[in-house]
Formats: sequence, C-alpha cells, structure tokens
Amino acid sequence: MRKTIIAGNWKMYKTIKEAIELSNGLKRELFKLDKQGIDVVLCPPFTALSEVAEVLVESDILLGAQDLYWQDEGAFTGEVSAKMLQEAGCTFAIIGHSERRQFFGETNATVNKKIKAALANALTPILCVGETLKEREAKETFDVLEDHLHNGLDGLNKEDVLRMVVAYEPVWAIGTGKTATPEQAQEVHGYIRDLLRKLYDKETALQIRIQYGGSVKPENISALMQQPDIDGALVGGASLQVVSFTDIVKKAAEVIK
Ligand code: PGA
Repeated sequence: MRKTIIAGNWKMYKTIKEAIELSNGLKRELFKLDKQGIDVVLCPPFTALSEVAEVLVESDILLGAQDLYWQDEGAFTGEVSAKMLQEAGCTFAIIGHSERRQFFGETNATVNKKIKAALANALTPILCVGETLKEREAKETFDVLEDHLHNGLDGLNKEDVLRMVVAYEPVWAIGTGKTATPEQAQEVHGYIRDLLRKLYDKETALQIRIQYGGSVKPENISALMQQPDIDGALVGGASLQVVSFTDIVKKAAEVIK
C-alpha cells in the first residue's frame, strides 16, 4: 500500500514573513483534519526553510527544498548543498523540476548527481519528469519520460529508488490552468510504473509513489486521486493559500478513506 503524498511547491513566492504566516495557517488547519496518514510536504524558498522548520516543530508536516547542489561544500557561488538543507530541517528535495530544466540548464546528468547527493544526506528526492506541449503533440511523451527516468536514475539500485518519489508533471499543465485529464495522467503514471518495473522489478515498481503535478486544485484532486497509479500531487499555485492547499489535502484524504 503506497502512502499518499501531497507536496506544496511554493516556487519563488513568499518572503520569510509570509512563509511563517502560511505555514502557521496550514499547521493550524491541517491539524484539525483527519489526514488518513497522508504525507504533507511544504517546499518554501531556501531563505524561509529554517523559519518554516521552526513553525513545523511538533506537527507532522514535512519540509522540503526546491533544488540542491550535489557537492557538500566548496567554491560554488549561489548554490546550496544537500547537507545544508538537511541541517535546515528538510527531509525532502524536489529535483529536476521542469522550470529548472527549462530556465537553468538542468539536465538528466545533473539531476542524477543531485538525486545521489540527496540520498546520501537522508533527503527523499522528488524526481520531476514530464513532456512539453510540443513533445506531446509530436507523440514523444513516452520517449521523453523514458529519457528522464532512464538517465535520471542512472547507477541507482533498487534500495535507492525505493527511497524516492517520482512526480509526473506535464510541462503544458504547469501554471497554465490546463490539467491533464485523470485518464491522460493515469495513462502516463501507468507507463512510468511499467518503466520502473523494467528498470528494477515488479515489487519495486509497485512500491514507488508517483505524484501528479500541473494545475492541481481542490476541484480536480478527487478525480486524479481516484486513478490507480496516482499516489498524490505536487501542487504549485494552489499551495500558496491556506484554504486551497488544505482543501486539496482534505479531498485527497476523502478518496483514500
Ligand atoms: P502548478 O505548478 O500547480 O502551479 O501548475 C505545479 C508545479 O510546478 O510543481
């Protein structure tokens, strides 16, 4: 049985003050919910991590970063290491988000190094994979996913991948208001699970959690969660408000009841 995971990717939103406010609000509202054991993860910007970690003490909400660098320390101006994130209170790290691939030169090779660094520092990597609109229209979706997974997971054994989460995020659905239909998402999640089976084995593939991301909202989470291979969501825009993110967690909990 895979445990549902709902993560909020705050992207480059929220000052420290706003992040404290949002995480306090979420802590209060989520505490009232019967979350059915769902893993809830907040991923604020680097600057707010320590403060949000303070807020989350004595709550079961988990903390994640949005990226990391693979070296522990060194002359790498502007970068933050997995070791530093762990010290700041993180237990998760988003890796290979499409915005990093699109705007900051992230490649499967750098994704792979980052996953290894995360695992070496007790962080659960959330590996993001997904196709652009152009790739979908050219019927290259499955090839892109195979490329992202095969190369992103290079050199990782079964024990390693069992400590990871995969997030399927079709780039055309991120921040656009266009969600993949539950059937479209399920088709790809099924494909990813089958690919993991081929890369590892059936038991491993069945245990890995695969989240969906791309315009997830309170209105569409229930239908997505009803799909057999969708184990949660990576939420951007709707994670920036207490009401919408709480609603998403609540609706996900209702589906798994
Ligand atoms: P969105 O972002 O929910 O705003 O589409 C999702 C993501 O980029 O992780």
